[in-house]
Amino acid sequence: MKQLKLEIAIEIIKHYTELSAVEQELCEAAILAKANAYAIYSNFQVGSSVLLENGKIISGSNQENAVYPLTLCAERVAIFAASHQYPMMKFKKIAVATSFKETENELAIFPCGSCRQVIREQEVRYDSPIEVLVIADSGKVYKMPSIQEILPFSFDKTAL
Ligand code: THU
Repeated sequence: MKQLKLEIAIEIIKHYTELSAVEQELCEAAILAKANAYAIYSNFQVGSSVLLENGKIISGSNQENAVYPLTLCAERVAIFAASHQYPMMKFKKIAVATSFKETENELAIFPCGSCRQVIREQEVRYDSPIEVLVIADSGKVYKMPSIQEILPFSFDKTAL
């Protein structure tokens, strides 16, 4: 039997304040965005911010609904708002902040599968990777060069 084993590249940064000025600003925006979450059902606040090629940072937070499946994740709120406000602007980076307290062996909370797919759509749209920064409650950052690191074999328009 042949087996395919994948390796993923995730850089671990002790604290987001060690990042470049623009990345720090992006992380701070995502952390701040958590405060605007409407998360009365899960009590789990998520903030997300995208950096566009024109330097603009657009943020979002999770927005819940009594009809639970209608809830929208923070990443998608940010991405759809950015795509609406700047329809032809390439996405450079996305940061996601949650308040999960990591333990020694556990990673922070990473974007859900649906949001990974939506981030991937923007990479394919502009044929350009989007750096992903996942920020733990402690300020530690898990940084990936592309969403493909955590969404291998993704489905995109080339299959259609
Ligand atoms: N949530 C996000 O905002 N982003 C994710 O990637 C995963 C989950 C939100 C949705 C919901 O409001 C809460 O977290 C619990 O699922």
